[in-house]
Amino acid sequence: MTSRRQMLTQGAALLGASSAGLLLPQTALAQSGKIRVGFMLPYTGTYAQLGVAIENGVRMAINEQGGKLGGREIEWFKVDDESEPSKGIENANKLVQRDKVDVIIGTVHSGVQMGIHKVARDSGVLSLIPNAGVHAATRALCAPNVFRTSFSNSQPTMALGETMVKRGHKKAVWITHKYAAGDEAFEGFRDSYTKAGGTIVKELGLPFPNVEFQALLTEIAALKPDAVACFFAGGAAAKFMKDFAAAGLKGKIALYGSGFLTEGVIEAAGPAAEGVMTTLHYADSLDTKRNHEFRLAYAKTFKMQPDVYAVQGYDTGLLLIQGANAVKGDLSQKPALYKAMEGAVIDSPRGKWTMSKAHNPVQDMYLREVVKGENKVLGVAVKALADSGAGCRL
Ligand code: PHB
Repeated sequence: MTSRRQMLTQGAALLGASSAGLLLPQTALAQSGKIRVGFMLPYTGTYAQLGVAIENGVRMAINEQGGKLGGREIEWFKVDDESEPSKGIENANKLVQRDKVDVIIGTVHSGVQMGIHKVARDSGVLSLIPNAGVHAATRALCAPNVFRTSFSNSQPTMALGETMVKRGHKKAVWITHKYAAGDEAFEGFRDSYTKAGGTIVKELGLPFPNVEFQALLTEIAALKPDAVACFFAGGAAAKFMKDFAAAGLKGKIALYGSGFLTEGVIEAAGPAAEGVMTTLHYADSLDTKRNHEFRLAYAKTFKMQPDVYAVQGYDTGLLLIQGANAVKGDLSQKPALYKAMEGAVIDSPRGKWTMSKAHNPVQDMYLREVVKGENKVLGVAVKALADSGAGCRL
């Protein structure tokens, strides 16, 4: 990554002037001819490992195509958003106003996404969402320059309710981190579970990123539901599964979740993760050539196993490549760029998916179970699931 200071220094040296001041960055920009790609992701905190997996995935997709976008070289920029919503706008502006990126790739946390979204809508910069599922981004506040390659928060849990009832678990407690992602995941769970005949006996929550689960687990033990369904991700997910087992609930109350619960954390959770059932748009064990090849290459390059976040990053790279190729690297040709991305069919390790009118993936949801430390796919829970896109007028 070239820092701004380096660029200024190089620019100044080229012109042999130290007084050109503010004009220099523009000159350097025009000369460099590179596409400027900014990552705004969490590199610290509960979701840090998710940010790393997403960046790895993006880079891997682009490196597989020769490391360029539409024939142009890339200059990368990075901001750690810390999963801190109050700094969302300021951090997005570091990339958009200071670094003048052509495209912003981010982020993980739904609250932070709303900051990026405001900056994207105000500036018109291309915004690719590689995780955060916040509904508004592809519903009422959808925008021509904003594309999501991951999911909407209620998509994974829309596939959960029927499975639980079919398995005889008709009385459930819901528990989550209380913010947009958990609250919107609850919507999907509530709709699918009650429609299938299940009853939600209690909704529990704690503020993000608090992981003091003890009192809530005591409450669950007293309520004695058939099952618990939840939304947790990253470090919090590993701790929740461990604390659930340590509280003596494992084996007594079935544990289900939106599939993020068991992504990237199975090793950290250890035996506590075994048998946990979830629904998600990816599973490690998907038996396709595409997935096998992806997993092998990722493990070889990064010396770690890929998870859904790596896949979402990879697909973000694939989408950007398709868009950039269609306009031969000239991202200022917006109508042609958007058209290519809207029509893209992404040949993903998760299976092929397409973009909805509101710019959110239409994709299969898998039922998975953790077996011997791996998310084993048990089948497709819902085929080609689309978010409602309610209120979007694209
Ligand atoms: C979100 O905040 O939208 C979010 C975070 C982590 C996940 C999924 C969704 O794994």
